[in-house]
Amino acid sequence: MKELKSHVMQTRSRTRSKEWFERAQLSLVEGVNSPSRGAAVYTSGPIMLERGKGSRVWDIDGNEYIDFMMSFGALIQGHANATIVKTVCEAMAEGSHFAAATSAEVETAERFRRMVPSAEVVRFTNTGSEATMLALRLARAHTGRRKFLKFEGHYHGWYDPYLLNANSHPPEQLGTVENPARIPDSEGIPLSIFDDVILAPWNDVAALERILTEHGRELAAVITEPIMANMGCILPREGYLQRLRELTRECGALLILDEVVTGFRYAPGGCQEYFGVQPDIGTFGKALGTGFPVGAVAGPRSILDRMQWSDKMVLHYGTFNGHRLTMKVVAANLDMLSAEGTYAKLHTVGNAAIAGLREVFRRRKVKAIVQGFGPMFQIYFTERAAIHDYRDYCKYVDTKLYSRFVHALLERGIYMTPSNGLHWIISTAHTEQDVQVLLEAADQACSGLA
Ligand SMILES: Cc1ncc(COP(=O)(O)O)c(C=O)c1O
Repeated sequence: MKELKSHVMQTRSRTRSKEWFERAQLSLVEGVNSPSRGAAVYTSGPIMLERGKGSRVWDIDGNEYIDFMMSFGALIQGHANATIVKTVCEAMAEGSHFAAATSAEVETAERFRRMVPSAEVVRFTNTGSEATMLALRLARAHTGRRKFLKFEGHYHGWYDPYLLNANSHPPEQLGTVENPARIPDSEGIPLSIFDDVILAPWNDVAALERILTEHGRELAAVITEPIMANMGCILPREGYLQRLRELTRECGALLILDEVVTGFRYAPGGCQEYFGVQPDIGTFGKALGTGFPVGAVAGPRSILDRMQWSDKMVLHYGTFNGHRLTMKVVAANLDMLSAEGTYAKLHTVGNAAIAGLREVFRRRKVKAIVQGFGPMFQIYFTERAAIHDYRDYCKYVDTKLYSRFVHALLERGIYMTPSNGLHWIISTAHTEQDVQVLLEAADQACSGLA
């Protein structure tokens, strides 16, 4: 059989990354600006990235990688997309931001409304965290209720009340499904904040019915991701989101669909379009800004108009809200995403990667599954056929083996975070050739796993 030429890019030295990381630690906490980028995740120290183009990134030592992390999913158009670069240059030359009304924010909001089914109106924020924070405030004001329900293992940003059981923990610490241990994710939050939080297991209709029967009428909102993306990529069971929609409606709690990860990724209108579930409030971020910091809250006027100026308004200020440069970028991004065939390509490339990885693990006899579909997926080293929720993830997933596997890929020109809680991202810049290189690198990485 003829030997095929390998396209895997072997990483050479990371000397300069190491030197810069030493220097970084003198001025920055842990040498980074978010713990998920630091040495707690990258065991041999973070890789300093300097440049990106299309699906590729280069580190400070000149090593080239195909990037499958894509800024935790923000870069739906890949790196340095030519249209975005042009848009930024032109907009910047006119002035970045005025903190005043602009035509740019109107044009962007019009595009947003055309794409997102539930968006009668939209309010732009600067991050996903700000969007989910605002969503809860709106829900409380609208319903006159204080409590809300969040699911185990879901992350909705770093706002105090959401930071309960968003991190994974050893199974023996979790308590029972009926009486889950309530584990704050951060110091510095008064425990009384969590008195208003009802914690529930996700993807479990019976548990949901039981909990909503007991607490439903006290709830301002139930917040959920449509696809659980904080423990990798966990799909909702058939009919789960639809049942959640019915039950929240029955008890008068608003359904907040947190699409910060899934929005503009699976379909033009995100998962609310893909799964056909109409939330009361939708939150967005990441892919919306294709690398620029932006979030959004969308829904009906009856809820969002509560932000209108009055002595009973829901307050939402922000110097950088509707940032002009960012609005121009978002408009250009939404135009590109609306082009015929964009989502079909994202799904085709992603599904090729998923099928290929499954085949590699099968051939190499590695006990691993690949969960998700199309533009977002995750690999779990597990004996299970599927991971359905937080407890499955905490109990059955070998996250250390995953980290070793990804570190082996990082040596072979594939850029990905070694954190199993994140997910592989396909952008419009990825090609089937990129997938072939990934599969070859994954095949090589498997040989070191035994
Ligand atoms: C589902 C979800 N909601 C909200 C957020 C917060 O977004 P940001 O990091 O932009 O504040 C995240 C971030 O990862 C997220 O995954």
